[in-house]
Amino acid sequence: MIDLHGHYLPAVDDGPADLDVSLAMLRYAEGDGIETAVVTPHACSSLCRIKDLELMRRNWQDFLAAVNSSDLQIHIVSGAEVYFTSELLPILKDNRDLLTINNGSYFLLEFPGEYIYAHSKDFIFNILTEGFIPIISHAERNAEIQRSPQVLFDLVKAGALCQVNAGSLRGDFGNQARSCAYELIQGNLVHVIASDAHDLEGRKPELAYVPALLPQVDPEKIALYLHDIPAAVIADQAVPDIGEPLLNQPRRTFFDFFKKRDS
Ligand SMILES: [Fe+2]
Repeated sequence: MIDLHGHYLPAVDDGPADLDVSLAMLRYAEGDGIETAVVTPHACSSLCRIKDLELMRRNWQDFLAAVNSSDLQIHIVSGAEVYFTSELLPILKDNRDLLTINNGSYFLLEFPGEYIYAHSKDFIFNILTEGFIPIISHAERNAEIQRSPQVLFDLVKAGALCQVNAGSLRGDFGNQARSCAYELIQGNLVHVIASDAHDLEGRKPELAYVPALLPQVDPEKIALYLHDIPAAVIADQAVPDIGEPLLNQPRRTFFDFFKKRDS
């Protein structure tokens, strides 16, 4: 498995406070069966305590050296969770190596929790034409998308990808986020499921429990979420097809996913 979204970098955001915790998180992830972890600290947001991106860049180099000199087998890949701002394009252009995943085209884009900006579709179109592909992080936690998945449908049709937190499927972020996550999966609006790990207490780096929470989803599709699409993102290649985005499906509940296939 590949964890495309995790706060593993020490002392930069609301993730691990120091290197010891970071390494312990990677060890935990490795034990869970995660072979590659993309390191995605908050950037351009109030949660990013390091405002100086040069300092963040040096911190990544120190972290990479520490992981390489440890006995960990897990691979780490650079990235960030970039907070939405209408002025983002020049920042992305100047800091592609720091803000995109593995210095490629894809990057994790975080919207505010309560709403989606009205001009987000135009923004996505503009950055796509500049060679950047946004992956909307934990879309199921956004209140506007919870009320109307049509909002995400439009962004995916415009060319964005969507990542859902594994913990949302388990109910870690409440019933609305859980219901929304299942509804988005049903609508072919999800491309990646990741841990969004922050620590070893409430938000651990683990993904192995995900297939048991998706009993009605084709195992090959689950492999797309947990491995194949993240692998294509890291390799900066076109992602495998997850199916045509659907809308106007009968709204399904979390419990519908556990009904027998033939019922
Ligand atoms: Fe995150």
